[in-house]
Amino acid sequence: MSPERRAALAALIEAEMAGLPVEAHDAATGHPLCVVGFGAEEVLAATLAMISTEVTMGARVRAFEAVWAARCGKRHGVLVNSGSSANLLLLAGLVEAGHLAPGDEVLVPAVGWSTTLFPVAQVGLVPVLVDVDPATLCLDPKSAAAARSPRTRAAFAVHLLGQAAEMAPYEDLLVLEDACGAHGATIGGRPVGSVGLGATFSFFFSHHITTIEGGIVVTDDDVLADTLRSLRAHGWVRERSDRAALEAASPEIDPRFLFVSPGYNLRPTELTAAFGLVQDRRLDAWVARRRANHADWCARLAGIPGLTVFPEAPGTTHAGFAFPLLVAGDRGGCMAALEARGIATRPISGSNLARQPAFARVPARTPVPLTVADAVHTNGFFVGNSHAFGPDHGARLADALHTWSSS
Ligand SMILES: Cc1ncc(COP(=O)(O)O)c(C=O)c1O
Repeated sequence: MSPERRAALAALIEAEMAGLPVEAHDAATGHPLCVVGFGAEEVLAATLAMISTEVTMGARVRAFEAVWAARCGKRHGVLVNSGSSANLLLLAGLVEAGHLAPGDEVLVPAVGWSTTLFPVAQVGLVPVLVDVDPATLCLDPKSAAAARSPRTRAAFAVHLLGQAAEMAPYEDLLVLEDACGAHGATIGGRPVGSVGLGATFSFFFSHHITTIEGGIVVTDDDVLADTLRSLRAHGWVRERSDRAALEAASPEIDPRFLFVSPGYNLRPTELTAAFGLVQDRRLDAWVARRRANHADWCARLAGIPGLTVFPEAPGTTHAGFAFPLLVAGDRGGCMAALEARGIATRPISGSNLARQPAFARVPARTPVPLTVADAVHTNGFFVGNSHAFGPDHGARLADALHTWSSS
């Protein structure tokens, strides 16, 4: 495309998308779960990818994978079509690469997202539900110690709603991180995603940054990375570093369709990566704003009777994905009061996943009491946090909760 036509296209998209991404949301209009976090730059990048007709996984995907892996201090990034796919791929890859064997147990927090838990069982591993820490709502080390058996091989820590989970207590296990809602959080000065053997992120529309749908696995393990690249794309060898050796080992098979893993198709498109490359540049500033909101809102709400907030844990920086609350008493009434004031609410992720109907069909162990998870299930909810929100949103929330608390 000529520079003139490209400039004209950019101007057209900019005119249509003026004001996007939303950088400052007016609290007087309400408190939604999220705002639109992309704008003309992302749409231009994706449009240029389409115009180039190079739309299936290619150079842009490789570039975004390198950027995200570097952000996490890892050698490899494997981009996929969602955070759920990233979790499935990581777990399937660990089995395929021999890090875990069917029947091995994986510690999973009882409070988390459905697709952190379900893929564990889907690849033949046994999820063991562990209670969450009342201060962080992430894996509780004491509960985890009580839940372990001689078959326990891994801990899948979920950095819930932006709070970095402790991982040091699981050093003798294989540590995995679900950072799907914690982009930019840190623990002990290290970014989440840098600690475990493998870590996952989601780039769904409502997350810190977005590729509309999308997700990624990061790892330093070369063999695991090759395995993930096969499993992501039909099980074939095309993106593997050991492709030549594998092709030589099966000379009777046309290398263009040589399958070495029982794989899936979880591939992203070049549009996903075009978005991601632009969005990555926004992340640090946006997470700083979310973190400031989290601290400000915790301070504003701390004294309200009947309310528990979850300040950033010592030694961590919070990524402020969403703002969780626990209420003593009538959660439904509290949520309804907030909704009536234009403040959107949701349960805290899947809450106690052992109480979800699907759990009855998951071959899992639940060896320890899930007391905190039950409290979250009954009394917890979250409201949105966003880079575009600020102190006015905290004031509106505090006002609504003071009114509810004194009614
Ligand atoms: C902790 C956690 N894991 C996994 C996922 C799934 O990500 P996706 O919606 O991209 O499939 C989410 C989604 O919010 C999540 O919060």
